Amino acid sequence: MTVAQQFFIFFCATTMTFNCKADYQLPEPTDVTYRWDDQFQVNVSWSWKKPDNLPENCTVKYEVFRYGLPQSVEPRFRSLINNFTVKYFTEDKRSDHWNISIQAVLDPVCGHWKESRPVIKTIKTSKPRTDLVTDFRCSFESNRTKCFWKPVSESVKLNISYRTSEKNDKIRACDGSTSHEKDVCYLNVNNLQFDIYVLVETKTGRNTFKPKIVTPLPKMNIAEDKGKLSLTWEDPRPAVGKCRLKYSVYVTECNSSNVKTLHTKEPPLNIPYNKNCQYKFRYRVQTDEYCISVSSDLSEVITHGENRSPDEMLTVIAIVIPIILSACVILSCYCFQRNREIFCPRIPDPSTIFKEMMMTGNKDSKPISGNLYTPVPEPTENITLVSGNMVPQENP
Ligand SMILES: *[C@@H]1O[C@H](CO)[C@@H](O)[C@H](O)[C@H]1NC(C)=O
Ligand SMILES: *[C@@H]1O[C@H](CO)[C@@H](O)[C@H](O)[C@H]1NC(C)=O
Ligand SMILES: *[C@@H]1O[C@H](CO)[C@@H](O)[C@H](O)[C@H]1NC(C)=O
Ligand SMILES: *[C@@H]1O[C@H](CO)[C@@H](O)[C@H](O)[C@H]1NC(C)=O
Ligand SMILES: *[C@@H]1O[C@H](CO)[C@@H](O)[C@H](O)[C@H]1NC(C)=O
Ligand SMILES: *[C@@H]1O[C@H](CO)[C@@H](O)[C@H](O)[C@H]1NC(C)=O
Ligand SMILES: *[C@@H]1O[C@H](CO)[C@@H](O)[C@H](O)[C@H]1NC(C)=O
Repeated sequence: MTVAQQFFIFFCATTMTFNCKADYQLPEPTDVTYRWDDQFQVNVSWSWKKPDNLPENCTVKYEVFRYGLPQSVEPRFRSLINNFTVKYFTEDKRSDHWNISIQAVLDPVCGHWKESRPVIKTIKTSKPRTDLVTDFRCSFESNRTKCFWKPVSESVKLNISYRTSEKNDKIRACDGSTSHEKDVCYLNVNNLQFDIYVLVETKTGRNTFKPKIVTPLPKMNIAEDKGKLSLTWEDPRPAVGKCRLKYSVYVTECNSSNVKTLHTKEPPLNIPYNKNCQYKFRYRVQTDEYCISVSSDLSEVITHGENRSPDEMLTVIAIVIPIILSACVILSCYCFQRNREIFCPRIPDPSTIFKEMMMTGNKDSKPISGNLYTPVPEPTENITLVSGNMVPQENP
C-alpha cells in the first residue's frame, strides 16, 4: 500500500466521522401529560413536531420505557401512536410514583438522522401507596368469588372494590358478606376469563393489586394396588371452573433426603411401592398453563407405611415369636394347674379300691383318698402378690 493510498483511506475515514457528527437530531416529544382512567390504569400522551427537513419516507416511532419499578426488566416498546395506557399496581413499587421515558426514534434508520433525547415524566397516584391488607386471596365458588385477607390494622375501615381486566370494565364494590364473616367479601365474578384487579382504599391511602386466586386443597386418597401406590384426588370443582388442573406431588421414600417431584394432569398418579418404606407426601394443585393461575396451598405432610429393614423383620421374628410362644406355654401351664381336675380327672387308685375292700365292714374307717389328691398349693399367685413387698424394709 502506497503512502498515497494510506492517506486516501485516512482522508475518507475523517470525512465520514465528520459527516456523522453533522447528523441531525430529532426534536424530543413535548407536552407529556397523563390522566388516570381509574385507579388501575393511566393514559399517557404527548405531542411531537416533525422537523421540516426530515425526508417524507422516514418513519418516526416513540420508544417508551417505564423505569423505577423493581421489575424494570419490562421491555422498551416502540409505537407509532403518541399515547398509550398502562396498568399500574401499587405492589409493583415501593412508592407511589415512577418515571416514564419517551424518545422519538427512526425505525428503520433513516439518512443521517438520529433519535431525540429522552423526555422523562414522573407519574404519580392521587393517594399514596399504603399497606392496608396482607395475604389477600380469592377463591371461586359456584356463582361468585369469595375474597379474604388479613387487615394490617384492625381499626381502619377499608373500602374494597374491584374490576376485571375486560376492556372498559367499571369499578364495583366488593359486597360484604351477609353472615358475620370477618375480613371477607364477595365479587360478582363467576369465571376465570379475565384477571381481577382489587382496590383497597382508606381516606388517606391506597393498595391496588391482582389478588392471588386459590382453590381449596382437594383431598388426596392413597390406595395400595398390586405393588403400587395409586394417588387420586377429589374433584375440586367449581373452584377452578373449566380449567384443567396440574397436580404436583413431592415424595420422599424411606429415609431418603431427596424429594422427588412428580406431576400429573390425569390422576391416578401411580408410584412403585416398597412395603418396607415409609412414604411422605406433600402436594398442591394448580391450573395448567392454558388458564388463569389458580393454585392451592401446599398440603401438610401425609405419611403412608412404615420404615422397616428386612433385618428388622428377622429381628421381629427372632424376638417376638419366642416371647409369644413362652407366654403361651406359661399360660397353658397355669391353666393346667388350676384346672388339673378337668384335664386329669381323678382315676380311682387300685390300691385304694383294695384297701376299701379290706376295710368293708369297719365302720370307723375313713377314706383317705381325699388327701392324696388334695391340689398342690398354687405358688404362682402368692409369689406375684408378695413380689412387691419382698424388699426388706429399713427403719429410717
Ligand atoms: C424520576 O425522575 C425524577 C425527575 O426527572 C428524578 O428526580 C428521579 O430521580 C427519577 N426517579 C427514578 C426512580 O429514576
Ligand atoms: C391517541 O392516539 C390515537 C390513535 O390511536 C389518536 O387518535 C388520538 O388523537 C391520540 N390522543 C392524543 C391526546 O394525542
Ligand atoms: C388516551 O387518552 C386520549 C385522550 O386524552 C385518547 O384519545 C386515547 O385513545 C387514549 N389512549 C388509549 C390507549 O386509550
Ligand atoms: C428515502 O428516500 C431516499 C431517496 O429519496 C432514499 O435514498 C432512502 O434510502 C429512503 N429511505 C428509506 C428508509 O426508505
Ligand atoms: C347463582 O346466581 C343466580 C342468579 O344470580 C341465582 O339465582 C342463584 O341462586 C345463584 N346460585 C347460588 C348457588 O348461589
Ligand atoms: C369506596 O370505593 C368506591 C370505588 O372507588 C367508591 O365509589 C365509593 O364511594 C367508596 N366508598 C366509600 C365509603 O369511601
Ligand atoms: C432413618 O434415619 C434415622 C436418622 O435420620 C436413622 O437413625 C435411621 O436408622 C434411619 N432408618 C432407616 C430405615 O434408614
